[in-house]
Amino acid sequence: MTVLDHIGVAVASLERRLALYRALGLEVASVEEVSSEKVRVAFLPVEGTSIELLEPTGPDSPVAAFIAKRGEGLHHLCFRVADIRGAMAQLKANGFELLTDEPARGAHGCLVCFVHPRSAGGVLVELSQPGG
Ligand code: CO
Repeated sequence: MTVLDHIGVAVASLERRLALYRALGLEVASVEEVSSEKVRVAFLPVEGTSIELLEPTGPDSPVAAFIAKRGEGLHHLCFRVADIRGAMAQLKANGFELLTDEPARGAHGCLVCFVHPRSAGGVLVELSQPGG
């Protein structure tokens, strides 16, 4: 079964936006910087999945570009896969466009890749293989 690993939310400031989630009773399980994506991320577990808040670490971050263009808000859906290269090949074979040809190192040391939103109905889809 495919697992919804997390839902990514673009925020200008983690500190400011954590207030909402804390008021909902959620707690931060981890905060880390992901250099490949130029973001600082906070994970807040919710039953069966997590919310990932993404704060850009500089103006050249893809998340900074996203916020400049569309404002803060929902950014991506991440599905956990056991074999990311196999999943990437299957998506390509089905005509979906990937942002990169090779997986990158994401949060928690996972291997990650993204499906281009223009081939996915406007939704940025992330695949994540734990452990990598
Ligand atoms: Co993510």
